[in-house]
Amino acid sequence: MNVLGIESSCDETSVAMLTDYELKANLISSQDFHSKYGGVVPELSSRAHLQIIIPLVKDALYKSNLELKDIDVIAATAGPGLIGALLVGLTFAKGLAYSLNKPFVPVNHIEGHIFSGFLMEEKPQFPFLALVVSGGHTLLLLVNSFTEIKKLGSTVDDAAGEAFDKVAKMLGFGYPGGPNIQKAAALGDKNKIDFPVAELKDPYNFSFSGLKTAVLRFIQKEYGDIKKISENDLNDIAASFQWAVIKALIQTTKKALKHFDVESISLVGGVAANGALRESLTELAEQHNKKLVIPGIEFCGDNAAMIAFRGAKLFEAGGNFNLNYSPYPGLSLNHFS
Ligand code: KG4
Ligand code: ZN
Repeated sequence: MNVLGIESSCDETSVAMLTDYELKANLISSQDFHSKYGGVVPELSSRAHLQIIIPLVKDALYKSNLELKDIDVIAATAGPGLIGALLVGLTFAKGLAYSLNKPFVPVNHIEGHIFSGFLMEEKPQFPFLALVVSGGHTLLLLVNSFTEIKKLGSTVDDAAGEAFDKVAKMLGFGYPGGPNIQKAAALGDKNKIDFPVAELKDPYNFSFSGLKTAVLRFIQKEYGDIKKISENDLNDIAASFQWAVIKALIQTTKKALKHFDVESISLVGGVAANGALRESLTELAEQHNKKLVIPGIEFCGDNAAMIAFRGAKLFEAGGNFNLNYSPYPGLSLNHFS
């Protein structure tokens, strides 16, 4: 079964080919030009998707040694994401499915991330805890099967990646903030500043907005202006902030590990690329004797391989797939309870 996957929910256009669950191509075109605006400009993102999507599909077919007629299923991200950006990939995928008379499977972007660990050699085992940390979402989920996902908690305000991006902006680093904070943090002292870790009434929820404000207040009080912060101090702030985010994610996952008897843990989403977070979660998993699956860096950020994988599983599970799907920008999760 040749599954073509298409992802266009934000600032990455990606096209993948999955042949009998073997990844033949996973092409990702990142729209780096947004960095000069300090964040993603939706209209520019849609236009860039439109320009690159056909060449990427051609390249993915070429790399897989396949032709259009060999495609069996077409899967594309239907939401959540930027509406104009989603429309490009979704409409293209539906048009291609119609013209080839092949099934079209809409995929929830978050569900794509949740199962991205299955793209690895060592796969998660059900039931597993999925910690989804991306630019738009922070979720802790109990995943019992490919069709039964239970939401344990989520952020009540900013997503973890959003906090990285906002704090990076405060510190004068470019967009996207995560990799830049990680770089600075590696040179700083994480115990220098004791930034707050939110404890919420709901044990599995997260909050990162207070932390972001605490960093802002600290900068205002200690320096007044970011231009007055030395490079060493910038590194210490980045390290202390990153450590506060990691502590929040670890403390919540730890609570869930005590209550739910899972086989494994999977850390997914763009922030899962963070080296310090990967290390801390590895330690936690070892302490609790759980298998940990973290996708390789190329499957942490937005990619079409995870969309093709999720699409293939949904297709196999059966269902009435037709072309009557509109994009949904909000967090509408098909298989959640
Ligand atoms: O999953 P993703 O590519 O897009 C969404 O679905 O949102 O996640 C993007 C987020 C951005 O906020 C980015 O700053 C963050 O992932 N990120 C990181 C790292 N690499 C990307 N955050 C922390 N450390 C990193 N190394
Ligand atoms: Zn994502």
